[in-house]
Amino acid sequence: MTHIITICGSPSEQSRSETVIDYLKLHLKKYEYTCEEIQLTDLPTDVLMKGIYGHPVINQLTQQINLADGIIICCPVYKGAYPGVLKAFLDLLPQNIFQGKVVYPLMVGGTRAHLLALEFTLKPLLQQLKGECLSGVFILESELKRGVELSSSITNQKLAKRVHQQLTEFTEKIIYKRGVHV
Ligand SMILES: Cc1cc2nc3c(=O)[nH]c(=O)nc-3n(C[C@H](O)[C@H](O)[C@H](O)COP(=O)(O)O)c2cc1C
Repeated sequence: MTHIITICGSPSEQSRSETVIDYLKLHLKKYEYTCEEIQLTDLPTDVLMKGIYGHPVINQLTQQINLADGIIICCPVYKGAYPGVLKAFLDLLPQNIFQGKVVYPLMVGGTRAHLLALEFTLKPLLQQLKGECLSGVFILESELKRGVELSSSITNQKLAKRVHQQLTEFTEKIIYKRGVHV
């Protein structure tokens, strides 16, 4: 069975990035994939702050990621880049943790002025971990609605179409890779 890990890279409890991940998970249901979610807010603070390599929580998450075929990662733009807490988490994982995995990156930001944060900060970081990154999508927070039915949480139809196109590409690449490795 194809296994997907989602990573929400926001330190916020009421996260818009989380809404995006929930939206994608809703659409992944039709593929009968198994999905596991990594929430940075669930991680012990001292593990992140003190950089405790080899902590049981980190080892367990590493194992989970190793079993995954694909990774969906969504985080906010903070000060023109990804949040430091996401980097603190990724720093604790093995060097090539995303090797052989298709990675779908998304970023949520407050201003279009920072849409290139995806291209110039998040994607290079994921490629450093050897992830096979899709183009990814930048989402303006004003194009996201919370407290409505999840399927209509992306209010801009063109944007929703791009999000779906990339999800299709994500699933197709995973199917292709699994076929190649059978
Ligand atoms: C500390 C902080 C820094 C931010 N810096 C930026 C920024 O540089 N550029 C931008 O477009 N949005 C910036 N934002 C806005 C967030 O990207 C935006 O509110 C996003 O939707 C938050 O996502 P989240 O709810 O998943 O945390 C910042 C927000 C915070 C709290």
